[in-house]
Amino acid sequence: MKHGVLLRRLWLTVVLGFALLFVGPTVSLAAGLLPCDIYANGGTACVAAHSTTRALFANYDGPLYQVKRASDGQTKDIGLQATGGYAKASDQDAFCAGTSCIINVIYDQTSNHNNLTIEPKGGNGGADNGVPADALPVTAGGRKVYGASFSGVMGYRNVATTGVARNGSPEAMYMVTSGTHFNSACCFDYGNAETSITDTGNGHMDAVNFGNECWFSPCSGSGPWVQADLENGLFESGAGPSQDSANTGNTEPYVTAMLKNDGQKTFALKYGNAQSGALTTSYSGPLPSNGYQPMHLEGSIVLGTGGDNSNGSIGSFFEGVMTAGVPSDAVDNAVQANIVSVGYGGPTAAAGTLAQDSTVSFNATTPCCTTRYISQQSGGTAQSGTVVTAVVSSASSASVAQDSTWIVRAGLADASCYSFESRDYPGEFMRHYNYHVYRQPMDGTQQFRQDATFCAEAGKDGQGTSFRSYNYPTRYLRHYNNTVYISSDGGTNDFDSANLWAYDVSWLVTTPWAQ
Ligand code: AHR
Ligand code: AHR
Repeated sequence: MKHGVLLRRLWLTVVLGFALLFVGPTVSLAAGLLPCDIYANGGTACVAAHSTTRALFANYDGPLYQVKRASDGQTKDIGLQATGGYAKASDQDAFCAGTSCIINVIYDQTSNHNNLTIEPKGGNGGADNGVPADALPVTAGGRKVYGASFSGVMGYRNVATTGVARNGSPEAMYMVTSGTHFNSACCFDYGNAETSITDTGNGHMDAVNFGNECWFSPCSGSGPWVQADLENGLFESGAGPSQDSANTGNTEPYVTAMLKNDGQKTFALKYGNAQSGALTTSYSGPLPSNGYQPMHLEGSIVLGTGGDNSNGSIGSFFEGVMTAGVPSDAVDNAVQANIVSVGYGGPTAAAGTLAQDSTVSFNATTPCCTTRYISQQSGGTAQSGTVVTAVVSSASSASVAQDSTWIVRAGLADASCYSFESRDYPGEFMRHYNYHVYRQPMDGTQQFRQDATFCAEAGKDGQGTSFRSYNYPTRYLRHYNNTVYISSDGGTNDFDSANLWAYDVSWLVTTPWAQ
């Protein structure tokens, strides 16, 4: 080697060495590094990495998630458009065309293979459902991808993980969620929970939580907040309540929610707008004292429910990771910068095209039945309130026109979905009961609210809109023999027949027959 070259190399090494010494973790900002590369460079490697939208390692080229379709029960892995890139949503669209799909598995992108599957029954709450696969279309990196949209009774779990913090070991986690889709029910969590899916006591959880459940009042503003579910409490500080009065809630469409816990004495919470700007630390200080110092982590991973499967919460999930060890603030900042660089965009609430409080009619799209509209049998009792289809035309009587007219309301169980109030019987709504659909008076119960909530999706036959049942997410409003049901694509009931299903669940939302 020539002398000059040697000298230049030496000089370069010294300069680079200095740069590294002083710039330190900003090295993590180098272009092309994704969150788990940044964490690894910082010495706090990802032990689990889940996303339905993108790779979280620059060299990841495996599947992101698996969908399962109703028509034949077949599954398909949805992978990436390119190594280290974004989800290939077109594969899902092709596989699920004309039927409904749920997300069956969310794969772990680390070599630990800590995959998340649908959560079974727990100490508090029956077995969960998978989320509908197409309920949350958004864009990331300029491409169409799908987030995971949780209504109630939906959750994922892994009770036998590798590499995830146990007992008092340090860890951190973040998730990208949404401030447009949340509620105050327990507990929209992502992180460390119990292997038994029961509440085993204080300190047995360390999961980042998002929602407006104010566990330790007073809470500041109306939320939703980034909180720590450490078991038997959603903590905003070691004492419980928020110590950051400026933190009145994160209502941005995309929110970064971060939790760091040294497992022994301290924890920290950070929040940020996932579309722009930096993170804010809302708390950094001691863990609660009554059983949380040290922590008693069990290493199960939960997504969408509480540790004991309390499953009343709603929420959105785009990506999340868990680490071994507590990352530096510089690493957190680099991860937030990478999240922002994704340019998450598009609607986060499944709003469809229906204007709230507008008056509409619903026209069947099945070739047999294009003169038919969703209607209701007259009379006040539950039975005579059966929801049916009726032939309606400009020659129809005023009462038929009125029976075929509905008022669009914000979903009684989830404002990003819809409820349909009868034009004829104010205060009465379309609701399902034993999968049959009736018009009944709103009785104020949570059961009624859920039974009367329907979430809009693109029509399954390529026309109009399909309406997914909020609490039976594989079922959609369908006409069968001119009566309306919530129906799955195939099943034991006659009204679940796969024949014509995609047509029967697709409706044109039209101008109303009656004003
Ligand atoms: O800590 C809040 C919740 O309380 C947990 O998620 C759940 O296990 C318990 O019901
Ligand atoms: O609801 C009318 C028709 O009845 C549906 O299109 C079909 O599924 C059933 O035969």
